[in-house]
Amino acid sequence: MDQGIVKLAPSILSADFARLGQQVAEAERAGADRIHIDVMDGHFVPNLSMGAPIVESLRRVTHLPLETHLMISDPDLFLDEFVQAGSDSFLVHWEGNNNLHRTLQRVKALGRRVGVVINPATPAAVLEEILQEVDQVLVMTVNPGFGHQHFIPTMLPKIRRVRRMIDENKPGCDLEVDGGIDVATAPLVVNGGANVLVAGSAIFSEKEGVAAAMKRLRTAANRVMTSSR
Ligand code: DX5
Ligand code: ZN
Repeated sequence: MDQGIVKLAPSILSADFARLGQQVAEAERAGADRIHIDVMDGHFVPNLSMGAPIVESLRRVTHLPLETHLMISDPDLFLDEFVQAGSDSFLVHWEGNNNLHRTLQRVKALGRRVGVVINPATPAAVLEEILQEVDQVLVMTVNPGFGHQHFIPTMLPKIRRVRRMIDENKPGCDLEVDGGIDVATAPLVVNGGANVLVAGSAIFSEKEGVAAAMKRLRTAANRVMTSSR
């Protein structure tokens, strides 16, 4: 991988919602590649978060792509609403979706980028038949539902497996990771082949501020580039 190819996707789950517009603007100025929006319904994951109105508000304050991570039981019901609000891409879970292929086709028919997400306990092998249908794969490196969790180290071999699958079958497909990504874990996942890093607490909960936190994270992520993969 060439230097600079790693993309950062700040997750606003850990942002200060009273200053959301400012914090996203700061992330944009600091070189964020996309904004990651975690949507939770209290069923698919044991937590509630935000819905389409947040996307609509952010659409007015940033030019960055708005990436919508749907941790909800029936994603199909909400796609139109999020597209109208301004979502540029959707991340849909493999788990619990009996009609995943149809969901992916629907997102594409709406003219948006689509990715499939796999939870920590889900093997990489389930991606085999759907890799051709997606623009990105998201490997969860924590169990979804909350920010500030610890990275699960056994996800590293899975990231390597998914990287091999992508290189062999769908070059150009993004490999994104989400959960517990910080200056310590970023080099590990990049070394494994991830090229998009979602980070919430490591960007929005650092005392030093969003721009400085992003700079530190980017430096850490790129550190691996000079060593062997
Ligand atoms: C977890 C969410 C993540 C979360 C990551 O379910 O999907 O996007 O915001 O937060 P950190 O980076 O704090 O682990
Ligand atoms: Zn997420």
